[in-house]
Amino acid sequence: MSARVSDLQYVGLAVPDIAAERKFFAETWGLVEVGERAGKVYLAAEGTSHPFVIRLRQDSDKKTDLIGFSADSRGDVDALFDQVKAAGAKIISEPGSAEGPAGGYAFRFFDPDGRAIEVVCDSAQREARTLAKGEAVPVGLSHVVLHSPNHKALAEFYERALGFRLSDWIGDFMVFLRCNSAHHRLAILPGPPALNHVAFDVASVDELMRGLARMHQKGIELSWGPGRHTAGDNTFCYFITPNGNAVEYTSDLEHVDEASWVPTTYEPGPSTIDQWGTGRIITGNVPHAEMTPDKGLWQVPA
Ligand SMILES: [Fe+2]
Repeated sequence: MSARVSDLQYVGLAVPDIAAERKFFAETWGLVEVGERAGKVYLAAEGTSHPFVIRLRQDSDKKTDLIGFSADSRGDVDALFDQVKAAGAKIISEPGSAEGPAGGYAFRFFDPDGRAIEVVCDSAQREARTLAKGEAVPVGLSHVVLHSPNHKALAEFYERALGFRLSDWIGDFMVFLRCNSAHHRLAILPGPPALNHVAFDVASVDELMRGLARMHQKGIELSWGPGRHTAGDNTFCYFITPNGNAVEYTSDLEHVDEASWVPTTYEPGPSTIDQWGTGRIITGNVPHAEMTPDKGLWQVPA
């Protein structure tokens, strides 16, 4: 069996106005700041043991710096490094000591679109806290959605290189991939190579609605939602951060039984992406799409 990553661990973002993004994630969105080092701010999610889930850095342009995936052991990191090399990816750094405050053992590479990716194990874990009922803050990171000009080839790359498995398709334009029992930690859409959104799990639809109310009170405009998707069966509310990053509160993401799961290809259509039909009542909007290539492509992360 090929080696597999075991979770989505963090997303690193560069933003022109780091003060605004930092305030948004820490005070409004509900992450907790866990450190600042060498110009980078690290934020964790209360309900998960990953040392951080968002890494922020100031830059003149908005960029996706890095996406981090967890591996279970050093042996897996080494095996994944071999798979990534065999898949033809450009290597940034070979397995060794991880950068950042949580340490660990990691390597970095560029995916075929030029996104910088890290695979890491043995990071110092945080003590996760059980959230109170109604506490509308992220339990953890849920998934990232990417655009790619070669979305089918990119999905195959993540399957081959990092051991992702196919969960479902919507038509032939959106593919959902898992690396553990969560229905998707990664999904890919056509388009210029860019980040579509970063999603955070909240405990239930109750916390999703309370989170929506808090965003409204804080003046963060709802971009799309509330609603429930079909692929993954998860609820959604999308917002845009002060620097223009799309973020999602989601709940109830389906869990997959690895032995028995059979992927479905859903018929594209409004009721597929929005089962309840509620997603556009407030916003009137179609889902957010990124129209320009990410400015961080093929850049060794700072
Ligand atoms: Fe999402």
